[in-house]
Amino acid sequence: MHKSLLSASLFALALAAPLAHAHDAGDIIVRAGAITVNPKADSSSVKVDQGPLAGANLGGKATMNSDTQLGLNFAYMVTNNWGIELLAATPFEHDVKLKDTSLSAANGKLGTLKHLPPTLSVVYYPLDHKSVFQPYVGAGINYTWIYDEQLSSEAQSNGFSNFKADNSWGMAFQVGADYMITDNIMLNAQVRYIDIDTTATVENNAVAPGTRAKVDVNVDPFIYMVGLGYKF
Ligand code: NI
Repeated sequence: MHKSLLSASLFALALAAPLAHAHDAGDIIVRAGAITVNPKADSSSVKVDQGPLAGANLGGKATMNSDTQLGLNFAYMVTNNWGIELLAATPFEHDVKLKDTSLSAANGKLGTLKHLPPTLSVVYYPLDHKSVFQPYVGAGINYTWIYDEQLSSEAQSNGFSNFKADNSWGMAFQVGADYMITDNIMLNAQVRYIDIDTTATVENNAVAPGTRAKVDVNVDPFIYMVGLGYKF
């Protein structure tokens, strides 16, 4: 081989080697990591909606703490720049508290609830598919399944029963980035905002038989996930 042709070939190889295709049409990407749901938990005031005191406004608000679980993303690249993605996680558990209501027995930890927030999104990766750094934005639909609502022992001893919170459909938005550390393994960080709204109800026959209180909660969490991904 002619010497200059050889060096040209080596040069071409050296250029080609680091250009591992990061995200290509047809790729399946699975990401796993620590995911934290941090509810904004803005709420309406607590109102009595059933029983002899129906219509009474107890004031105050409901709050929820944050929780961290194992988060999973299953992404499929439809083109080099567009993908669809499903968010899954192990169940989140949050404490639900009432504060500043005019019924002092209601203030404090009302109980706990669990939820699963599966989210299906369309995701856009604006950079060239050969880039090892792949920032992205996405938007989609969330369904939050709330289950296993449990009253605290304190609330039970204050006469509360039958705590429930309904499920939620809402929009979800995300930004994130993958950084390829090998051809297949990537670091990932992402932030989401999901519109989750629920109405929680709880009964109290000690206050007056048939009394039910209700509060509308804008859970509207920011969700943070950091982890590793693998491209198949
Ligand atoms: Ni909302």
